[in-house]
Amino acid sequence: MRGWNSLTMVHVAETLAGLRASLAPWRASQRIALVPTMGALHEGHLGLVRKARELADRVVVSIFVNPAQFAPHEDLARYPRPIENDLKLLKAERVDVVYTPSEREIYPEGFTTQISMGGPALGLESDFRPHFFGGVAIVVAKLFLQVRPDLAVFGEKDYQQLLVVRRMSKDLDLDLEIVGVPTFREADGLALSSRNAYLTPEQRRIAPALNKELRDIASRARSGTALPALEAQAAASLLSAGFERVDYVAIRAPQTLERPREITGPARVLAAAWLGKTRLIDNVEI
Ligand code: PAF
Repeated sequence: MRGWNSLTMVHVAETLAGLRASLAPWRASQRIALVPTMGALHEGHLGLVRKARELADRVVVSIFVNPAQFAPHEDLARYPRPIENDLKLLKAERVDVVYTPSEREIYPEGFTTQISMGGPALGLESDFRPHFFGGVAIVVAKLFLQVRPDLAVFGEKDYQQLLVVRRMSKDLDLDLEIVGVPTFREADGLALSSRNAYLTPEQRRIAPALNKELRDIASRARSGTALPALEAQAAASLLSAGFERVDYVAIRAPQTLERPREITGPARVLAAAWLGKTRLIDNVEI
């Protein structure tokens, strides 16, 4: 199915056949960009769409809450799905096609293929969400093969995901450019995320401490203090600020995510921590 959503008048393709029919006239002569999302769009997503618009003639945004990247105990069921509002926002951004496949369109009856990755997919998020990058890699590979874009735009907020997608695209010769866009933030530093909607007012007050600690560690990383000590101090500060649990605070090499012994060139500090049932992630450049 494809057509104009009657409320928002944005072009929506719900099936692969509809998507292909929409893209066919542009394929030979125009650059097509894809922005993959799970919906519940905020200014961060719209920033990715604007970057895509800058770099391509046609912009496709996919909205698909991908069950394969959620473990059974995670928030798949409560993940926000405000589709009419998403379509309105995308219409205002002059998106050419919004692809909203069903689960069957992505994972047809009998689907068994998996992608198992090493390199940047190991450690950090994988230590706490072992299913996650397998789920991301398979859905992103499917979206790339279905849309066949010239480029795809991802946020640096999910920094490890960005590296995983880059690696996977290169390994599988998917022949597209992966563009990373710096994280969009609230005025108090909190990285924009669809999951911020889960925060209570009290948790929202505490949440910017995550970015503050990362900036603090980034400013002290070259001071000569041992890196594990800096990571441990930042984790302790997050707990004092009101976070209930810290999954990791980790200083890593920006391309490989390997653990440096000391900082001699560019580096990145990444963290994941819990406020109640909400897990926040963030990272900053050192
Ligand atoms: O970052 C996200 O929103 C998702 O992980 C993605 C890339 C759309 C894959 O489902």
